[in-house]
Amino acid sequence: MNKPITAIIVGAGHRSLIYARYAFTHPDRLRIVGIADPDAERRKMGQEMFNLPDSMLFENAASLAARGKLADAVINGTMDQQHVETAIPLLAAGYDMLLEKPFALTETELRALVEAVRRYNRKVMICHVLRYAPFYAEIRRRLPLLGKIQGIETTEHVSHHHMLVGYVRGKWRNTAMAGHHSMLLAKCCHDIDLIMWMKSGVAPVRVSSFGGMQQFRPENAPAGAGERCLVDCPAQVEADCPFSARKQYLEHPDRWTFYVWRDLENVKEPTLEQKAALLRRSDYGRCAYKMDTEVVDNQTVIIQFADGSIASHNMLSGTPVPQRSIHITGERGEITGKVDDSRFVLRVLDPHSTDEYREEIMDLNVLSGDTSGMSGGHAGGDERLVHDFVSVLLGETPSISCTSIMDSVAGHMTVFCADRAMETGSVVEIPALQVQ
Ligand SMILES: NC(=O)c1ccc[n+]([C@@H]2O[C@H](COP(=O)([O-])OP(=O)(O)OC[C@H]3O[C@@H](n4cnc5c(N)ncnc54)[C@H](O)[C@@H]3O)[C@@H](O)[C@H]2O)c1
Repeated sequence: MNKPITAIIVGAGHRSLIYARYAFTHPDRLRIVGIADPDAERRKMGQEMFNLPDSMLFENAASLAARGKLADAVINGTMDQQHVETAIPLLAAGYDMLLEKPFALTETELRALVEAVRRYNRKVMICHVLRYAPFYAEIRRRLPLLGKIQGIETTEHVSHHHMLVGYVRGKWRNTAMAGHHSMLLAKCCHDIDLIMWMKSGVAPVRVSSFGGMQQFRPENAPAGAGERCLVDCPAQVEADCPFSARKQYLEHPDRWTFYVWRDLENVKEPTLEQKAALLRRSDYGRCAYKMDTEVVDNQTVIIQFADGSIASHNMLSGTPVPQRSIHITGERGEITGKVDDSRFVLRVLDPHSTDEYREEIMDLNVLSGDTSGMSGGHAGGDERLVHDFVSVLLGETPSISCTSIMDSVAGHMTVFCADRAMETGSVVEIPALQVQ
C-alpha cells in the first residue's frame, strides 16, 4: 500500500477546506500536515480540524515557501488575485499544486505561471471541477461516437441568489475586491474550459462577445429605496423587493453561509439576531441596486476553432433556479442535456435504422452506479477532482477529466480575449501560447 500524499493548505478558506476534507474520507491517500493563512482564526480552525502542531502553521504562502519543501503538495485556495503570486514561490520550493481557478487574471500572469510550472517541472492541476462531474465526464467519454465535433452550445443560468451573493454584493463584484471584474473568469471559466476540453487539441482562434449589466444599476432601484435593506429602506419598498437582504439571507440563513456569515464563522451557532446585526453593517445588507458592482449580468460569447468548428456560451443571470446546459453536434450525431437533471441524450445517425438514428438516454444516477462513495458539490466534481490529483501524485492512472495545465490555458486565453472583444465591440484573434 502507498504512503498517503502529504499536503499543506494555502489559504484555509471555503474552497480549500472542501478539498482538504478528502483526507478525512481517504486517510490512506491524503494527509493534511500544515496550514498557511494570514488569518489567525482560520489557522486555528484548521489546526483543530486536522490536529496539527504549531510548527506546521505558517503566516502566509511566502513564509511557507521560505521554509523549503515540507510536504508533497499544496492545496492553493487563496483568492483570485493571489493565485500567481502565491503559486510561483511554492513551485520553486518543490511543491506540486492543486490550484483554484482562475489560475491567472491576465495573459502576463498566465505566461509567468506556465513558465514556472515548466521550469520547476511540477504537477499543477487547476480546479476545473465540472470536468470531474459524472455528467460531463460521461459526455466526454461518448464524444468519439459523434465524429468530428462541429458545434458546441453551452448555457449557464446563474440564479438570482447566486448572482447577488457572489457578484452583485459579493467578493467578485469589482476589481478592488477580486483583482478583476470578469464574470466569465469568475463564473464561466468552467464552461469555457468544458468547451476547450470537448475540442481538446484544436486551438480556438477567434472570439467575439457582447454583454453588460442590465439589472442592478442605481437608476433601476425601486422608488424611495434606501441604502441598506434593514436600516433605511421603507418597509413597503423592502417588502416588495425580492432582492432585499432580509429575503435573500435572513429568510434563507443556511444558503451561501460561507459568504454571508463569514464574519460569524467563529461564533458557534449564531442567532438570527446576530445575523441581522451583521447584515446591518456588511456588504450583504446593502441595496443591491446601489452597489459598486462592475461585473456584467448577461454575456454571450462566440468562438471559432482552427478546424472551422464553432462554439457559443451564454451566461444569463437572475433565474429562479440555477442550470447549466450543453448541446454538442458532430458529423454523426448529437449530445444534449442539463447537468442539474443528471441526464443527457445521445443520438447517433444510423443508415440501417428506419428511424435514421439511434437514441440513448444516459441517466448518470444509474450509469455511475456510484461505487466510489464520492459525492459533493459541483454535481459531484469537487471530490473527484481531489481524488484525481492524489492519483496523479501517487503515479496511478488518472481519469479522463485530468489533463495538464496547458489544456486550461486555452480556456483562460479565450476568456481574456472574449472580455476584450466585449469591451471593444470587436472580434479578437486568440494568440497561440508559446512559452519558452
Ligand atoms: N472551483 C470552483 O468551482 C470555485 C468555486 C468558488 C470559488 N472558487 C475560487 O476559490 C478561491 C478561494 O475562494 P474562497 O471563497 O474559498 O476564498 P476565502 O476568502 O474563503 O479563502 C481564501 C483564504 O486565503 C487566505 N490568504 C490570503 N492571502 C494569503 C496568502 N498570502 N497566503 C496564504 N493564504 C492567504 C485568506 O486569509 C483566506 O482565508 C477563489 O479564487 C475563488 O474564485 C472556485
